[in-house]
Amino acid sequence: MSEQLNITTENRICKILLSRSDKKNALTLAMYEGLTHALINADADPDVRVIMLGSDNDSFCSGNDIADFIAAASRPDAVGAPLLFLQTIASLAKPVMAVVPGAAVGIGSTILLHCDLVIASDQARFQLPFARLGLVPEGGSSLLLPQLVGHRRAFELLVMGEAFSASTARELGLVNRVVMHSSLQDLAMLEAEKLAAMAPEAVRQSKAMLRSHTQKQLDAVLVAEVKQFAQRLQSAEAAEALQAFVEKREPDFSRF
Ligand code: COA
Repeated sequence: MSEQLNITTENRICKILLSRSDKKNALTLAMYEGLTHALINADADPDVRVIMLGSDNDSFCSGNDIADFIAAASRPDAVGAPLLFLQTIASLAKPVMAVVPGAAVGIGSTILLHCDLVIASDQARFQLPFARLGLVPEGGSSLLLPQLVGHRRAFELLVMGEAFSASTARELGLVNRVVMHSSLQDLAMLEAEKLAAMAPEAVRQSKAMLRSHTQKQLDAVLVAEVKQFAQRLQSAEAAEALQAFVEKREPDFSRF
């Protein structure tokens, strides 16, 4: 289990917290593996009724670790762990609640499309900078985001890729509720406790029913996106964008 995850179960709520504050909770391959393992265990544990995904610091998740992206360019099989994580979170029977205290970038935002309830701090910021990084959308977002907000807004979010506020995320339907930063954890626990007190089988069947209409299509999209994403990671455009991030400069795509 990755030491950059903090996992506890109490009062039928399994909290899975990202714990890598120095890198804004960027996800390494080990963290994807740890998350997958934790989600499978929580879904199977009879003592768990609600899975809560959050962090133990002021960021939510800054996306895939950029150093891992650069390494993955020469190791295309490295996308296996993120794919398994996405397939797992997209197929859980139990309700998943996300608690977003701060930056939610890349997969840090697309994860939310697989959660059932999302509560965000008023300080949270969201961004889907895939095309800005020379990449393509992942996490099922090429299917789920246009379904949620329509093509034009999805294009703006996934291709123009500018950061947006928690209140915009709520207007888009990406989060249910925005609360004051100082009350986030307490209010999230109240919601989780309400959900954990409900009839568990009714909750699970309702979730399955809501998701059933797109599940097959989503399974296929997750695989297709990862395949194309892995190819893009090997592109000269992505190499320029990722190197620019490491060098803390703007990418220059003028030669392409
Ligand atoms: N992978 C690896 N390291 C990351 C990271 C990532 N995805 N996101 C942030 N970090 C690192 C930074 O390099 C920096 O490391 P350093 O202290 O060794 O220089 C540290 O985390 C703090 O990041 P910083 O950018 O200084 O913090 P910030 O508060 O100004 O901004 C973010 C926070 C999350 C908005 C910003 O870091 C960001 O945009 N990260 C990139 C996200 C991204 O593009 N992810 C991939 C999406 S597909």
